[in-house]
Amino acid sequence: MEWLNAALPKGRLGEKVYRMFAAAGYPCPSIEEEGRKLIFENEEAGIRYFWVKPSDVTVYVERGAADIGVAGRDILLEYGPDVYELLDLKTGRCRIASAGPEGFQENPLRTLRVATKFPNIARRYYEGRGRDIELIRLNGSIELAPLLGLSDVIVDIVETGTTLRENHLAVVEEILPVSARLIANKAAFRFKAERIEALCAALGRLVKDKE
Ligand code: PRP
Repeated sequence: MEWLNAALPKGRLGEKVYRMFAAAGYPCPSIEEEGRKLIFENEEAGIRYFWVKPSDVTVYVERGAADIGVAGRDILLEYGPDVYELLDLKTGRCRIASAGPEGFQENPLRTLRVATKFPNIARRYYEGRGRDIELIRLNGSIELAPLLGLSDVIVDIVETGTTLRENHLAVVEEILPVSARLIANKAAFRFKAERIEALCAALGRLVKDKE
């Protein structure tokens, strides 16, 4: 049988998502072993998993190195990859929000300096509000920017809100809700249609049960 190649986002979300795949009938016990391996196969289920940096999942899927993958809605909106979005897995729920120092008051007369690793989402959001901004693109620890005066606000993922709280920042505006999505390469979706549809249906039943 031909492999179904699945790119999973490395980290906490990937572990949750893997457990859903396993419960849906696509387990791969070797993935649970400690180590630095990145590829795991279960011949019986015909599935091969890769651990991929979350923001790279769409690259693997779009180019067909993986048939399917799981990526957050944040990544899909930021990069706009040419893939099919098959299913909302309703896990990894969080939101993208703007945040600033506690008590922050926006000065509408000045260009707003926005630090983010989601420049496209941020640009579109402020354009929609007709607000002039200066984008400062960072790759992580975004919360530092307003603390050090690098920016006025940030646009970033908020999950529990702990990171903001511990750094004396607060949400200014909610921008969009995020959850993990099952995506597929467009060609693979044709050539491996039956297998991808079976997996999608099994995951879909789990998602329904969770509601
Ligand atoms: C994300 C995000 C926030 C934090 C939010 O960071 O950028 O910093 O999680 O979660 P919380 O509301 O539960 O505190 P991530 O762990 O991806 O690291 P990074 O910021 O360095 O990319």
